[in-house]
Amino acid sequence: MNGHRRNRSAIPRERAPDSTLSLLSEGYAFIPNRCRRHGSELFAARLMLSPVVCLSGREAASRFYDHYRFTRRHALPPTTFALIQDHGSVMVMDGEAHRHRKAMFLSLVGEDALRRFADLFAEHWRRAVPRWAARESVVLLDEAHRVITQAVCDWVGLPLAPDEVDARTAEFAAMVDGTGAIGPRNWRGHLLRARTERWARARIEEIRSGRSDAPPGPARTVATHRDAEGRLLDGKTAGVELINLLRPTVANARYVVFAAMVLHENPHWAEALRAADEDTRQRFAWEVRRAYPFIPFIGGRVREPFEWRGHAFETGDWALMDLYGTNHDPGRWHAPERFDPDRFRTETIDPFDLISHGGGSATDGHRCPGEGLTQTLLVTAAHLLATSMLYELPPQDLTLDLAYIPARPRSGCVLRGVRAV
Ligand code: HEM
Repeated sequence: MNGHRRNRSAIPRERAPDSTLSLLSEGYAFIPNRCRRHGSELFAARLMLSPVVCLSGREAASRFYDHYRFTRRHALPPTTFALIQDHGSVMVMDGEAHRHRKAMFLSLVGEDALRRFADLFAEHWRRAVPRWAARESVVLLDEAHRVITQAVCDWVGLPLAPDEVDARTAEFAAMVDGTGAIGPRNWRGHLLRARTERWARARIEEIRSGRSDAPPGPARTVATHRDAEGRLLDGKTAGVELINLLRPTVANARYVVFAAMVLHENPHWAEALRAADEDTRQRFAWEVRRAYPFIPFIGGRVREPFEWRGHAFETGDWALMDLYGTNHDPGRWHAPERFDPDRFRTETIDPFDLISHGGGSATDGHRCPGEGLTQTLLVTAAHLLATSMLYELPPQDLTLDLAYIPARPRSGCVLRGVRAV
C-alpha cells in the first residue's frame, strides 16, 4: 500500500459493514455519538452500502463550507433530495451559475422584504387567534403551518383563496414531514409535491403570459429571472424555485413550536420577551436555532482532491457534514444542552459555528438564503406567543425523538383555552 492509500485510511472507521440502520435509529445523534466515541472530528463508515466520511465541528465546517469544495449533486438519497430541493434547483449548481441563481434568492430577502413578511405573518396570526379561541384546544404545529402558508403565499404575491388554504397547507406540511423518512411518510410527501408542482408551474405560466395580477414580488421575480446566458428558466425549474421559497418557509412551523416549548419550560422567558428589547429577541431566536434539531446533516461530494486531518478526499467522495452536532459541540459551546440565549451576550457567532442553516457564505456557497427570514419569523412568533394570547399546555408528550427527522414533539404541541389578549 503506498503512502497515499495509508493516508486515506488514517481516520477512525466504523466496524459495522453498513451503518444505515444505526443512522435510522439514532437520527440526529448518529454522527456526534460516533465522533465522541472515536475522539475525532471525522470518521469513515458505509451508509446504504456506499463509503462515506462523516464530519463534525467548527473546523470541519470551515472545510466543508469552503466555497464550492463540495457539490450537492448526488449527495443525498434521491427520495429525500426531491422533497428538499429537486433537480435543476440552485442547490445542485456550483460556481458562477450558482452565484447567479443565488443572487436572485438573496435579492428577495432584503430588510424591507423581511419586515413585510413579519407584518403579514403577524396579521394572519392575529386573524387566527379568535378561531383558536373558539375551540377547546388546537395543535400548534398544524396551526403554524396554516398561518405561515397564508403569509408566505401573500408575501410572494400569490395570495390564496380561502378554499385553497387547506390543500396548500397540507402539501407543504407533508413535503416537510417526508424529507427524513423512508416509506409512507416520504411517499405522501412525493404524492402531494406533484400537486404543488403543477400549481406552481401554472402560476409561473400565468405571470409570463400576462394573465396574472401578481404584484411585483418574489413570484414575479422567479418567473422573469434569466440565467447567466439571458434565458428564462424552463417552466418546471421556475416552479421548483418558487416552491423552494414556499416550502422551507412553511417548515419554520417547527421553530414556532420549539419557541412555545421553550416558553412552557422556562416561563421567565415569556415574561422577559414581553419586556424585551430587539437584541434580547434576536438572542432568543439564535438560541432556538442552535439548541433545537432541524436539518441533521448535509451531504456533499468532493469536487477537487484535498487533504484534511490526514485524510485524502478524492473527487467524487461522499461526505456528510453534521449540523446538529456542531451546534452542540461541547468544545465550542459552554453547557450546550442548556437553553441559554444569554450566551450570545458574550459569545460572538462566526460563519462556521452556528450552522442550523449551513455554514460559510450565502452569496458564494450553499448556505441557506432563508436564514434571515427564519430569524425574523422566529423573533415575530416568539413575540406573538408571549403577547397576543393567553393559553395553557395540557399534559401531553412533548418529547423530541431524535430518530424522527425533521424533529417535532409527538403531540405537535397542544394549546388549550386560547384567549386573545
Ligand atoms: C426552517 C428553517 C430553515 C432551515 C433549518 C434551513 C436550512 C437550510 C440548510 C441547512 C441548507 C443547506 C446548506 C447546504 O447545502 O450546505 C439550506 C439551503 C437552502 N435553503 Fe434553507 N433553511 C430554512 C429556511 C429556508 C427559507 C425560509 C428559505 C427561502 C426563503 C430557504 C431556502 C433555501 C434554499 C433555496 C437553499 C439552497 C441554497 C443553495 O444551495 O445555495 N430555506 N437551508
